[in-house]
Amino acid sequence: MLSYGHVLVLLLLPFVSPAGSCTEQEMRSLLQFLAGLSQDIGLTASWHNSTDCCSWEGITCSREGTVAEVSLASRSLQGHISPSLGDLTSLVCLNLSHNSLSGGLPLELVSSSSIVVLDVSFNRLTGGLGELPSSTPHRPLQVLNISSNLFTGLFPSNTWEMMNNLITLNASNNSFTGPIPTSFYASAPSFAVLELSYNQFSGRIPLGLGNCSMLTLLSAGHNNLIGALPDDIFDITSLKHLWFPNNQLEGSIIGITKLKNLVTIDLGENRLNGSIPNSIGQLKTLEKLNLEYNNMFGELPLTLGNCTKLMTMNLGSNNLSGYLDNVNFSTLGNLRSLDLIWNNFTGTVPESIYSCRNLTALRLSYNRFHGQLSEKIGNLKYLTFLSLVGISLRNITNALQILQNCRTLTTLFIGYNFIHETMPKDDEIYGFENLRVFSLNDCSLTGKIPHWLSKLTNLEMLFLYNNKLNGPVPYWISSLNFLFHIDMSNNSLSGEIPLALVEMPMLQTGNVATKTFELPISRSHSLQYRITSSFPKVLNLGINNFTGMIPNEIGHLKALLLLNLSSNRLSGKIPDSI
Ligand SMILES: *[C@@H]1O[C@H](CO)[C@@H](O)[C@H](O)[C@H]1NC(C)=O
Ligand SMILES: *[C@@H]1O[C@H](CO)[C@@H](O)[C@H](O)[C@H]1NC(C)=O
Ligand SMILES: *[C@@H]1O[C@H](CO)[C@@H](O)[C@H](O)[C@H]1NC(C)=O
Ligand SMILES: *[C@@H]1O[C@H](CO)[C@@H](O)[C@H](O)[C@H]1NC(C)=O
Ligand SMILES: *[C@@H]1O[C@H](CO)[C@@H](O)[C@H](O)[C@H]1NC(C)=O
Ligand SMILES: *[C@@H]1O[C@H](CO)[C@@H](O)[C@H](O)[C@H]1NC(C)=O
Ligand SMILES: *[C@@H]1O[C@H](CO)[C@@H](O)[C@H](O)[C@H]1NC(C)=O
Ligand SMILES: *[C@@H]1O[C@H](CO)[C@@H](O)[C@H](O)[C@H]1NC(C)=O
Ligand SMILES: *[C@@H]1O[C@H](CO)[C@@H](O)[C@H](O)[C@H]1NC(C)=O
Ligand SMILES: *[C@@H]1O[C@H](CO)[C@@H](O)[C@H](O)[C@H]1NC(C)=O
Ligand SMILES: *[C@@H]1O[C@H](CO)[C@@H](O)[C@H](O)[C@H]1NC(C)=O
Ligand SMILES: *[C@@H]1O[C@H](CO)[C@@H](O)[C@H](O)[C@H]1NC(C)=O
Repeated sequence: MLSYGHVLVLLLLPFVSPAGSCTEQEMRSLLQFLAGLSQDIGLTASWHNSTDCCSWEGITCSREGTVAEVSLASRSLQGHISPSLGDLTSLVCLNLSHNSLSGGLPLELVSSSSIVVLDVSFNRLTGGLGELPSSTPHRPLQVLNISSNLFTGLFPSNTWEMMNNLITLNASNNSFTGPIPTSFYASAPSFAVLELSYNQFSGRIPLGLGNCSMLTLLSAGHNNLIGALPDDIFDITSLKHLWFPNNQLEGSIIGITKLKNLVTIDLGENRLNGSIPNSIGQLKTLEKLNLEYNNMFGELPLTLGNCTKLMTMNLGSNNLSGYLDNVNFSTLGNLRSLDLIWNNFTGTVPESIYSCRNLTALRLSYNRFHGQLSEKIGNLKYLTFLSLVGISLRNITNALQILQNCRTLTTLFIGYNFIHETMPKDDEIYGFENLRVFSLNDCSLTGKIPHWLSKLTNLEMLFLYNNKLNGPVPYWISSLNFLFHIDMSNNSLSGEIPLALVEMPMLQTGNVATKTFELPISRSHSLQYRITSSFPKVLNLGINNFTGMIPNEIGHLKALLLLNLSSNRLSGKIPDSI
């Protein structure tokens, strides 16, 4: 079987040793293209009519001296793409990606009788794509990449009937409308990649895709598709990647386990329901399973343990239930990220999770677990992101003493547990020096802001709101050089607003380093933070018991996006300088 890679190699090999010289006609076509550019970064120096155009920058000729390839990716080109390129009768490969070209894509290029690879991705091309007349003979085009442009309008449907050599079509990240066409399939026996994500496709996923028996990737996420996954999709046994996240798909996923070669499934943010089928265990090559934000219910099938290649499993925000400890995670040693947030799981957190030694991100928040944290969590030597919010944990001292053995942790959310307990004392906690995000809100904790927090010198965000902490804000707070998001609202903190807060370097100036969270942190379904620097710079001291004058120096906190001092017993006013 010839893979797409091999096809390209065979086609391009004959052109490696240029000889001969290009024709007058070809030179004219190229110069016409050049004339359509408003900015070309030095092409004019090399594209000169006194030299053989085979020697021009970006041009490759065949052995016979005909122009076979125009390769001008990432040249800062501006202006229009001239239809004259369609006159290059031996042109096989045209690559204009990553420029700033505008205007339309001439239909002459799509319908060229020689072009095999056409890549105009990452430009500013506008307008529709246009339909080819149905009288057009079969075209040689194999790869069409028009992704990341500004194309609009109905996506062509009949055009694809003329493309019986098509292997890859990437039209993602445009604004195409209308239904996903049905006409690819009958004609192109080698069709392998269909990528239509980030557009405005609507309607149901059409029947007929099942005829594309070579398809390996089917992707149309972030569109407005409705209805169920059509049954015939489940006949495409070659399929490795099935991606339809963020649509309005409904119904069950029961058929999916017929696709034995699946490597990634991304059906998050839809309205799918039903349970995860027992037969999921037959997907032996599955590496990624994303079903977050759906209406899935029922228990996790025990057979999940047979998906031993799984690296990422995201089942958050569904209505899954049952004893999670029924599932044996010990066969899932490749698991790196496990997210079960916002479900209805009960029982204890299974000990077998702690044998997934490769876990870097674990989120079990907002379930109905009971029982306490296991010391075995310290086995997870790569764990950087841990979120255990709202799972009825008790004994905060014990929990933190266990967690400080997770030395790689950078993000820890354990709020909404330990209700009415007391903040651990200074001599009880030693670890957490790598923590950047620490969240211990909504616990009704009593006690003072503890000194051990001062040892968290990498801390960037600190959430202590909705507790009953009293006493002053300690002076050492200003030694946390990276701290830029502080929420201590709704406590019983007292004393004057300490000048130490006013000296916080990150609140005065300073750029927050951009780091990606292992799992996005959601404030709501529509507001999710993927990188630290997208969190605002905040100092929230509202609803406390602070007294005295508002210090004038608070005006130095030029970088703040939110300053809340309300509901205290403060006097004076917030200086205008802020
Ligand atoms: C080459 O270009 C120059 C001006 O750019 C023009 O005067 C000349 O006629 C052209 N020669 C040919 C052979 O097209
Ligand atoms: C076009 O060129 C860019 C930049 O070199 C490259 O990343 C891309 O793979 C090329 N397109 C094709 C279809 O080879
Ligand atoms: C466009 O898509 C083709 C086929 O998938 C790919 O080979 C090429 O690298 C892509 N171009 C860019 C700039 O990524
Ligand atoms: C399609 O193109 C986009 C960029 O425009 C890229 O991110 C994506 O990976 C491509 N899809 C495939 C399947 O190559
Ligand atoms: C979409 O296209 C824009 C503009 O070319 C680009 O900046 C952005 O990265 C693309 N997004 C994706 C997901 O490829
Ligand atoms: C799929 O293939 C079958 C059998 O060759 C054919 O009858 C049917 O019309 C095709 N469907 C589409 C949508 O092309
Ligand atoms: C699942 O969704 C379908 C389609 O929205 C609906 O008809 C069906 O009643 C749902 N089933 C359950 C058990 O909720
Ligand atoms: C894995 O599959 C085997 C047979 O294919 C089955 O006997 C076994 O019960 C499965 N194990 C799990 C944990 O699903
Ligand atoms: C962790 O991942 C590595 C690399 O993929 C793998 O070799 C190793 O077996 C995994 N660890 C476990 C406990 O399975
Ligand atoms: C969770 O499951 C219990 C039964 O185990 C049920 O009573 C409750 O309604 C479920 N909660 C949700 C939010 O579905
Ligand atoms: C909480 O845990 C600590 C340390 O493990 C232990 O000494 C203490 O007795 C526990 N407190 C309660 C009330 O169980
Ligand atoms: C605020 O402080 C006063 C004394 O300074 C105390 O009487 C009062 O209870 C405190 N209020 C709260 C909510 O802590």
